[in-house]
Order: sequence, then structure tokens, then C-alpha cells
Amino acid sequence: MAKKVIGILGSPLTEGNTALLLDRALKGAEDAGCTVEKILVVNLDFQACQEMMFCVDHDTCIMDDDMQAMYPKFRESEGLIVATPVMTMGIPGKLKSFIDRFQVFFMAKYVRKKPLVSDEWKKKRRGLFICISGMKIPEVFVGAKLTIKAFFEIIDCQYSDELLVNDMDTIRDLRGRQDLLDAAYRKGFALGKSIQ
Ligand SMILES: Cc1cc2nc3c(=O)[nH]c(=O)nc-3n(C[C@H](O)[C@H](O)[C@H](O)COP(=O)(O)O)c2cc1C
Repeated sequence: MAKKVIGILGSPLTEGNTALLLDRALKGAEDAGCTVEKILVVNLDFQACQEMMFCVDHDTCIMDDDMQAMYPKFRESEGLIVATPVMTMGIPGKLKSFIDRFQVFFMAKYVRKKPLVSDEWKKKRRGLFICISGMKIPEVFVGAKLTIKAFFEIIDCQYSDELLVNDMDTIRDLRGRQDLLDAAYRKGFALGKSIQ
């Protein structure tokens, strides 16, 4: 059966520069033989974590919203690509809330010591992080990377590669940067091959 790669778009712009890179990476994964699914966080209807703590004892969240459909997807996929712009030196708020709702995985793994992802399945899972920023300063990706690395750890997915593109205030439109689009494609392809 074909391996599954999920691509998460953190940008509110579904046809912006981040989306262009994600689409190229997903095309690469597809060409490597995977089935792909793109999740547009901006279109999901869910609330931020309310710390109701239902997940301390259960394998799901008590809040009945679009996140309920996410948990099985994230247990079953072999590959994951998170693509986001930097916002206020971190990630966009809605993407952060999306990630916070994976407290369901955190509690299972670290509190109940019964991870939602089996040891065998965990060995196969790989993640690619794509991030772009307006500015060109050395620490611009630090906050976003810390969050995404924590997310990958919580859901038992190895942080295996990244594509970080700064200086978007100068580049403006990635359609003129075939080199970067090709880099996204190659990284998506490599991810797809690595999980076969
Ligand atoms: C609310 C907001 C906050 C931002 N904060 C930062 C920032 O802290 N550092 C930075 O380098 N760029 C920042 N940016 C710029 C974006 O990272 C940049 O414009 C990126 O290319 C947007 O990608 P997109 O068009 O795919 O959403 C910010 C943009 C917005 C809208």
C-alpha cells in the first residue's frame, strides 16, 4: 500500500508563497510513490486548547470540533510536511493552536506512557519543516523551529529535514525563484522515498 504524507499549511494565504513551496514538496512526495493530503489549517473550525484535561485519561479531546478528524490521520500517516511563514518570530496563532490540541498525544505518551504511535510505526515516521520569513536575521527561525521540533517529538515523527527561506521581503514572489521551488520538490521527493 502507498505510504501517506500529510502536508499542513500554516499560512492564512492558501495560494501564497508558503503554499507554493508546500505544493511542490507534496508533488515530490507523490512522485516518490506516496499518497498525499493537504490540510489547510485556516479552513478548519476548532478552538484553542481550553485545558479541560480530558486527555489526561482519554485518547482524544473532549472538544467536538474539526480536530477530532485530525487525530486518526496523524496516527496513521508515515510522512509529515509542515509549511508555515514566521509570524512575530514564531508561527501563526492558528497553527500554534492546532499544534497545542495535540496535547492528546502528549498525555498518552508522557503521562500515561501509552503512546498513540507504536514503537514500530514511530521508526518509519519522518517530517519535513518548510518555513519562510520576511526578514533576513540569524535568529528568525529559532522560535518556529523549537515549536515544530516539539510537535514532531510529541507525535513521534522524526524531524528529518528542513527548508528555511528568509528575506521574503526582498524576494516577494517565489514564482520567480525556480531554485527554491525545486529545492522544495527535492525535499518532498526525498521524504517520500525515505518512508518507503
Ligand atoms: C502578522 C505577521 C507577522 C510577521 N512576523 C514576522 C516576523 O516576526 N519575522 C519575519 O521575518 N517575518 C514576519 N512576517 C513576514 C512573513 O513571514 C512573510 O511575509 C512570509 O513571506 C509570508 O508568507 P505567506 O505569504 O505564504 O503567508 C510576518 C507577517 C505577518 C502577516
